[in-house]
Amino acid sequence: MNPHTATPRILDGIAIAAGIKAEVAHQVRQLGPQGITPGLAVILVGDVPASQIYVRSKVKTCGELGIYSEMITPPETITTEEMLDLIAKLNAREDIDGILIQLPLPAHVDTRRLLEAVAPEKDVDGFHPINAGRLLAEGYSGATTSRSGKLALAPCTPAGIMEILRRSDIPIAGKNAVVIGRSDIVGKPAASMLLNASATVTVCHSRTHNLARFTREADILVAAIGRSGFVTPDMIKPGATLIDVGINRITDQSQVDEFFPGDEARAALFAKRGSTVVGDIHPAAFALSGAYTPVPGGVGALTIAMLMQNTVTAARSRRSTLDRA
Ligand code: GUN
Repeated sequence: MNPHTATPRILDGIAIAAGIKAEVAHQVRQLGPQGITPGLAVILVGDVPASQIYVRSKVKTCGELGIYSEMITPPETITTEEMLDLIAKLNAREDIDGILIQLPLPAHVDTRRLLEAVAPEKDVDGFHPINAGRLLAEGYSGATTSRSGKLALAPCTPAGIMEILRRSDIPIAGKNAVVIGRSDIVGKPAASMLLNASATVTVCHSRTHNLARFTREADILVAAIGRSGFVTPDMIKPGATLIDVGINRITDQSQVDEFFPGDEARAALFAKRGSTVVGDIHPAAFALSGAYTPVPGGVGALTIAMLMQNTVTAARSRRSTLDRA
């Protein structure tokens, strides 16, 4: 089949996330008779509107899957020392299996110090250096344990990307994977996971010269830079798999016209809400792809599902119900 003319496959993040959440709910039900209810504590500092939306939906999903959750909302003025105290208390609590500190934090607190204070076995974001190091050394092998049998808590968004690829039967081994973006939350761990899955990995970023020369070689392109429609049709290899991590809110009619010409459903949504979201990949590039994750409804849907899985994995591991053989 000529990939230029084939209709691209839409990788439905909502459906894949629903499958994972059903698996997690099943694991939670199995823990019930053992007297175990997995518990997640979410710390949300101050009042960043986007963070409030994310955190609310994390807490809501916990409720749907039978996971206990607790939202802790310190004021913007909290100090690093006070946060360390709070984290120490959560580390010591038997009923809390996962601790998530919603980022970004106010500039006056020492984010790195706080992330390192979370007990690695409760670090459901996978941001602690121990978990980041384990990911690099041992790889991500799906939603339970790493190859060595040790607890593998991997960052949720890149873990979600791997689940989309695997559950959609998109081959990774031997393929050229290009990641645009080198953040600690997405780009770096995504590159490491793709490498562990035997892709040939290139990481591009804001200082990369002639970025398109790399992206045009990509069989799998992961865009995680936070710039609306950054990847244009001329930058992709026809038939490639495009994974769009960007969630960029646009509020100008001119941008809607640029990204979604002739898309009446999108125009109606924009007229109603005054904004809409576009990814890091220009929608015109999707038409040339073999498969792509839409925005919204792609990678974003997986992040919370993977957080739920990490919470249950942490509960099972810490309370010794995971087979560590
Ligand atoms: N802010 C944006 N993405 C994330 C994430 O995955 N985890 C946390 N804790 N904060 C975020």
